[in-house]
Amino acid sequence: MITSKDNDKLTLVRKLGQKKHRRRMGMFVTEGEDLAQAGLDGGHEPVALLVHPDVDMPGEKVEPELLDGVATLASGTRVIGIWPELWAGPELLSADKCLFLDGVADPGNVGTIIRTADALIGGTVVLGPGSADPFSGIAVRSSMGSVFTQPLVRAGIEDTPAPRIALALGGSEIPGPVEGPVTICLGSEREGLSPEVLKECGITWTIRQRPDGAQSLNVAAAAAIACERISSATTGSA
Ligand SMILES: C[S@@+](CC[C@H](N)C(=O)[O-])C[C@H]1O[C@@H](n2cnc3c(N)ncnc32)[C@H](O)[C@@H]1O
Repeated sequence: MITSKDNDKLTLVRKLGQKKHRRRMGMFVTEGEDLAQAGLDGGHEPVALLVHPDVDMPGEKVEPELLDGVATLASGTRVIGIWPELWAGPELLSADKCLFLDGVADPGNVGTIIRTADALIGGTVVLGPGSADPFSGIAVRSSMGSVFTQPLVRAGIEDTPAPRIALALGGSEIPGPVEGPVTICLGSEREGLSPEVLKECGITWTIRQRPDGAQSLNVAAAAAIACERISSATTGSA
């Protein structure tokens, strides 16, 4: 039983709350039983599982107030997992559908997009320059565990498969299910797609909006609509 707040693993959890330490150590933290179970179900080996004494899960038992002391959720937590970051190899980039995130800076949007890709198209989510860390606490929570199953790669637009398609205003309608590799580029919450990425896109697709409504969709909502339209898995009979 861990009984000291100065325990090495609790110290590591506190450190991994910061991006610079995650980057340096290549590890991330999950809070809660569901996320820990998602990691175990995905066949991943935790660096450590820190568990409330009443929880029936493998791992090291920790005094409840010490677990709550390192939790970021106001409600506290009963399980904290420490995991190696899960980056896919670059070979996945040419194989299938890619979602390229061009400066998508909100970790909640990044996690939601990862979950959406996992649910609708699989393929690879590519974290382009300026995109939020998919292994921050908020992104991991928003992914609902899909960070354990959805391949993630850090890369530039030049590394993604053609055809590259800008998801932006002023283009044509999304045609429907797409066979074979394609890269769909999603822009940042404030600026949209950068000129560098737009230059690499031969096609622009637009999700039609009503004329008097909001100026644009949230980027994760736009990603969900585009993924559903291009996926052959979601068409046909239910
Ligand atoms: C909040 S929007 C960015 C708005 C930004 N002011 C602009 O002008 O592009 C974030 C991203 O969501 C996607 N998006 C939002 N609404 C869209 C729509 N109606 N059609 C296609 N993509 C859209 C685009 O990829 C966009 O870069």
